[in-house]
Amino acid sequence: MDQLIIEGGSPLYGTVGISGAKNAALPLLAATLLAPGLHTLHNVPDLRDTRTMLNLLEILGARWEREGQTVRVDSSHLTGREAPYDLVKTMRASVLVLGPLLARSGFARVSLPGGCAIGARPINFHLKGFEKLGVTTRLEHGYVEAAAEGLLHGGTVYFDVPSVTGTENVLMASVMAKGTTVIKNAAKEPEVGNLIDMLVAMGAEIEGKGTDRLSIHGVDRLHAAESTIIPDRIEAGTYMIAVAAAGGKVTLTGCLPIHLSALTEKLLLCGVCIETTADSLTVSCPEVDGRSICRPCSVDITTLPYPGFPTDLQAQFMALMVLGDGTSIIHETIFENRFMHVAELKRMGADITIEGSRAVVRGIGRDKLCGAPVMATDLRASASLVIAGLTASGTTKVSRIYHLERGYENMAEKLRSLGAKIWKVKA
Ligand code: EPZ
Repeated sequence: MDQLIIEGGSPLYGTVGISGAKNAALPLLAATLLAPGLHTLHNVPDLRDTRTMLNLLEILGARWEREGQTVRVDSSHLTGREAPYDLVKTMRASVLVLGPLLARSGFARVSLPGGCAIGARPINFHLKGFEKLGVTTRLEHGYVEAAAEGLLHGGTVYFDVPSVTGTENVLMASVMAKGTTVIKNAAKEPEVGNLIDMLVAMGAEIEGKGTDRLSIHGVDRLHAAESTIIPDRIEAGTYMIAVAAAGGKVTLTGCLPIHLSALTEKLLLCGVCIETTADSLTVSCPEVDGRSICRPCSVDITTLPYPGFPTDLQAQFMALMVLGDGTSIIHETIFENRFMHVAELKRMGADITIEGSRAVVRGIGRDKLCGAPVMATDLRASASLVIAGLTASGTTKVSRIYHLERGYENMAEKLRSLGAKIWKVKA
């Protein structure tokens, strides 16, 4: 398996373009199943996960082609309504085809995704939402079978937890239901808004974008449309944290700073300088004795649904807190097992104690982490280890980087263009 080799100690300088958001591309690609015709999606990142979703669309009968960052999907002739285990087990977000298949054909059979490194990841909220729209669901042999006699009908769906893909799945199931659907305690993530924009472009009638209450008035049919994936706020946040940790000055282009408020506030507390325009963000560390370095600091974070601090940046931020000058409490409230990066960071010299859903990080200061061979366990934990490697003395070897390639487009190339000493090698 491929590895990343990182020689730590180089600050980051330059400009890097932010790719389209993985967590927007996946639901928007699934939404092409809702209407026959040729759908055009711009700014689609070329990632392991988007390739998996395109493979799934092809299994279901759609045809697609990629031209640079534009993907065209023709879902005129669907031939399947089942997402197989071998594919779903590699990407949980495959469950996002449930909603559109139900809306288009009244039936879907999708392998239960099973758990993953960060938690059990059930889909009970998705299934309860479908049932409110007249769908019957049953579980057998590790698959969920969802079916509706005739048209789906509108209903009121309340999410105990503002599930992101749960909201997206019910949105897609309801757009052609008979009557109005109201989703209460809906997720407000920007990626949900991106999906709403695409559905409206396809002819859907949806009110409440950006709020926790969505009203969807069912229409008879939808048509193919042209859409653009929003920038990846998690990729952008990852690079912001990398600069705060390694030092330097980097401008992120093609990003939306408005989606990064929670992280920005925390980095400002760490003495990082941040300048923004509507679609770019420059992050820099002050010069101290001729060296660009942010004064070590320790701040507490609690992960929350948007617009709170994103759980998808928790592991990366922890790598920064390791370099702090005090103690930082990192409270993970979204997933039950999202501290897999802790053991690997400790192998590099970090001082971290896990107490239930909290990690107590005792900062060891700058220049104290030691490079080491470490193993990626999940997508964002991988990014945390890369950030740690950029600041550690000596060489860090990150293995199982297929996790990283699920959600970061050309990370090694982008970091190398900023002066990092990082290479991908075949193990
Ligand atoms: C989405 O996952 C993202 N994935 C995740 O990003 C992200 O971490 C998460 O939202 C939270 O922001 C995509 O958008 C493809 P949830 P999702 O449903 O929708 C529980 C990454 O690194 N829950 O909002 O699966 C669940 O276990 C990935 O890019 C149920 O109990 O997350 C979790 O504790 C990781 N039953 C909480 O709710 C359900 O039916 C929030 O999960 C659904 C969720």
